[in-house]
Amino acid sequence: MNRERMQALAREIGEARGAEVLLDERLASWLSMRVGGSVAAIVKPADAGSLPALVRELHEAGLPVRLLGGGSNLVAEDEPLDLVVVHLGSIPGGIDWDGARARVPAGLSLAALLRESTKRGLTGLEWAAGLPGSVGGAVVGNAGAFGGEIGPSVREVVLVSADGTLRRHRPEAGDFAYRRSFVGPEELVLEVELELAEGEPEAIRAEVARVNAQRSGSQPKGGHSSGCMFKNPEGDAAGRLIDSCGLKGRRRGGASVSERHANFLINDGSATAADILGLMEEVREEVRRATGVELESEVRVWRSREQEVRP
Ligand code: EPU
Repeated sequence: MNRERMQALAREIGEARGAEVLLDERLASWLSMRVGGSVAAIVKPADAGSLPALVRELHEAGLPVRLLGGGSNLVAEDEPLDLVVVHLGSIPGGIDWDGARARVPAGLSLAALLRESTKRGLTGLEWAAGLPGSVGGAVVGNAGAFGGEIGPSVREVVLVSADGTLRRHRPEAGDFAYRRSFVGPEELVLEVELELAEGEPEAIRAEVARVNAQRSGSQPKGGHSSGCMFKNPEGDAAGRLIDSCGLKGRRRGGASVSERHANFLINDGSATAADILGLMEEVREEVRRATGVELESEVRVWRSREQEVRP
């Protein structure tokens, strides 16, 4: 299907469901790394209720549908991408509280959730202070930092697949592991129920401040990034390995390995996706050669010519 036909269909189906449809939008504006070429269309759903039918209809029309959350763990190539992207982060809606339980729309930012839970004196998410991205993305990658992770707080997840099918899942033992979850590659999280615990507001605020201070002591602040680029290999840290190869400050165009933390690649604002992906490959190659360790990406890549792959 050519791009014009894709755009006409996306517009017709999207608008019939009350969505806003943007054509030829550069992904760079939607991803925290600030790189990525133009997609055929970005569809911003009117509400959560219309989402399953909307996704199903786009899918049934033969459109290559991708679901986008907070955009913090994703890099897209520079070339135009013939994709119809449904942006979950655009879905309006707030948190539905029931005591220490919260039903959260997946597109909500982790930062907003932490702000609300802190205000209510609920504990369990302090480790997330300073993390970018959405709650849905955090569940997919079992986001974690400073000894905590989201998995243990998750009670139920509502998922939608690329064909619009809804599924509810109550996580069991083994569903979450380091930076992994039960969520399949073709599924996206629509809603999450979390269980937190009553805490001491002062202690929660102090812990959030401690995490923020620890983060700013060890991780870069300026520039655009996707957070850590590589998963930590068993028993070691990707940042330590990259650093030990003398790669801090290594540069390709507008992309560089952070001087502060070697597992962060920073876009100074002028980087292309080719700079970022090329530098990632260079880092991986040098670490492999020097240490024998094969680093695995924590960041997904959308390519112009292939289905989504994890490099
Ligand atoms: N290290 C170096 N050089 C560096 C960076 C780190 O030698 O440039 C060493 C540190 O000295 C330390 C070890 O590597 O001995 C681990 O470093 P750090 O404590 O900074 O933690 P990390 O394992 O690199 C993980 C998560 C971060 C999370 C922090 C804080 C991964 C891939 N990274 O980093 O998560 O914020 O712990 O708990 O699991 C992310 O996922 O995007 C992310 C940034």
